[in-house]
Amino acid sequence: MTTKLIMSAVVCCSLLMGCSPNGKTEQTAVVTASEAVSTEIQVGKDYHSFSNPDEVKVTNLVLDLTVDFEQKMLSGSVQLDYKRVLPSADKLVLDTRDLTITNVSANGKTIPFVLASQDSFLGAALTIDLPQVGDSIVVQYHTSPQASGVQWLTPAQTAGKQHPFLFTQSQAIHARSFIPLQDSPQVRVTYQATIRTPEALLAVMSAANDPNTPRDGVYEFSMPQPIPSYLIALAVGDLHFKAMGERTGVYSEASILDAAAAEFADTESMLIATEKTFGPYSWDRYDLLILPPSFPFGGMENPRLSFITPTVIAGDKSLVSLIAHELAHSWSGNTVTNATWRDLWLNEGFTTYLTYRIMEMVYGEKRYAMEAVLGRQELQTDIDNLAKNDQVLAIDLRGRDPDDVFSNIPYEKGALFLRELEQKVGRAEFDKFLLAYFKHFNFQSITTDEFVAYLQDTLVKEHSDVLSMGRINEWIHSPGVPENAPVPQSDAFTVVDQARADWLAGAIEAKDIKVKEWVTHQWLYFLNNMPEKLSQKQLAELDDAFDLTQSHNNEIAHSWLLISVNNWYEPAFTRLHEYLVSIGRNKLVKPLYKALSHTAEGKKMAQKAFTEAKDGYHPLTVKANEGFVE
Ligand code: BES
Ligand code: ZN
Repeated sequence: MTTKLIMSAVVCCSLLMGCSPNGKTEQTAVVTASEAVSTEIQVGKDYHSFSNPDEVKVTNLVLDLTVDFEQKMLSGSVQLDYKRVLPSADKLVLDTRDLTITNVSANGKTIPFVLASQDSFLGAALTIDLPQVGDSIVVQYHTSPQASGVQWLTPAQTAGKQHPFLFTQSQAIHARSFIPLQDSPQVRVTYQATIRTPEALLAVMSAANDPNTPRDGVYEFSMPQPIPSYLIALAVGDLHFKAMGERTGVYSEASILDAAAAEFADTESMLIATEKTFGPYSWDRYDLLILPPSFPFGGMENPRLSFITPTVIAGDKSLVSLIAHELAHSWSGNTVTNATWRDLWLNEGFTTYLTYRIMEMVYGEKRYAMEAVLGRQELQTDIDNLAKNDQVLAIDLRGRDPDDVFSNIPYEKGALFLRELEQKVGRAEFDKFLLAYFKHFNFQSITTDEFVAYLQDTLVKEHSDVLSMGRINEWIHSPGVPENAPVPQSDAFTVVDQARADWLAGAIEAKDIKVKEWVTHQWLYFLNNMPEKLSQKQLAELDDAFDLTQSHNNEIAHSWLLISVNNWYEPAFTRLHEYLVSIGRNKLVKPLYKALSHTAEGKKMAQKAFTEAKDGYHPLTVKANEGFVE
């Protein structure tokens, strides 16, 4: 890994352009929240892991875990196979969080270990004295019921109401809450696992899953490709499988299986289209797991088995860009991986760019254009609201919990940057570059600097007439969006702008707007671009004409409920409450809690919903919203 130093904070471009390594520092300890952030970032250093992969690198895990729903506990062992990078290394440092370590052994004998005190979000370092011989240790442990990366659901919190459910969410730094390991994206491991569950239930993992496995409560998995720890995932529940295509299928509870398979029926076409343009799919099968509505994200790209929120099952495929996104991570993220969380945009920006391309290939240019405009608007909202330091692609996360810094910047700004490269060199040339990039860094974890060096060596060299390193560094290290960046445009929104303007001017009534042909994206654009303040009469008119309070599309409902909170439109509040207590996806609930928290009366409603929903929320959703109800 590079140990180049660069200036942090808002980096002056001219400084970076000609910037050469200006020295080296010694390996410093992880910066904790309480420590002051000094002036220099060590590029490639993972500030979110205590582990020591520069000395000893774990290469394979063998898990044997029992799932205890009564105690909300995973217990058992993990064998860690390692390689000494430094021949003299005698310690292995692992990340843990809220774990109870009962024994560590090597060659069948107990060996010494020290579990440090716990940092507020990094967890606790587990330092193990390695024996001189051997290349493998075994840790016996169990998790805490509060493990940040695990959600335990009671039968009542599932669709079927008969059986409990469990799922993990490792990204960014939560794998350590259910496995003691080197929890850094620059460490890649293969893994094998035995998962023991109640007999009626099925376990699935981010590994090879056999849909026809006998349901006997003991499940074996193998992930033969090396993956970063944030992609290790497990779910257990009353799961069933339905094939969608030759290499694609869906797992979910029985009651939503058919709806999910129909909604995501184009997954196989997406896979084929992506392979054709960006190179072979590396992971054999691509299946989806549909989780209960408390899943805190839209989706998570766990290899071979993306985890998906049920809130995108709209009945009309209108929200399936989420699937394109998680699938695209099979290239950008899962084969070429960000080396540290500072480099997250390499995962999410590339993936967002690929998502747009996949949507265009499978659904056409009109759909792509609408999604690109909506994405650009979401980016603008963040640029208008975030501190300058948080608007850069290569962000300074030292001393910060990555969960607290989640925004559209790595996604949409990253994608817009790549779109500009594409427009400057032409699509064919850019696709050739991406194909080569995925091949060059296949199964590697890379920093932003490594990407930039590669870009400079390839595309910039070949197209120096249209590309410059100054511009590239501006994209990566300056806040906002550079001047003359691409501007996504959609003709389908012209009529929407006109209708909104006419209605706001009082020239037409809501019921006279010709919405018959409108698709979800047009509705979102219509609502998201309303002025901040609307009168009760206007809100009632919209609601009467379009029944927005009762919209079954969770994104449209979200936009409408946000307007309703901001304008205190009470007829929507029963639905708002229902929405907040039945969905745990942060992107959908957090803006609502935030808006409610701005007034005393709103806060009361937020408190009521939060108190009722809290037991069913994921730890991440609780953490992200509890501040709004205090
Ligand atoms: N990998 C992300 C989710 C993530 C990112 C979890 C960072 C933790 C830390 C996933 O691929 C994602 O981007 N999900 C989005 C999808 C959307 C942009 C289509 C989500 O959940 O909203
Ligand atoms: Zn993503």
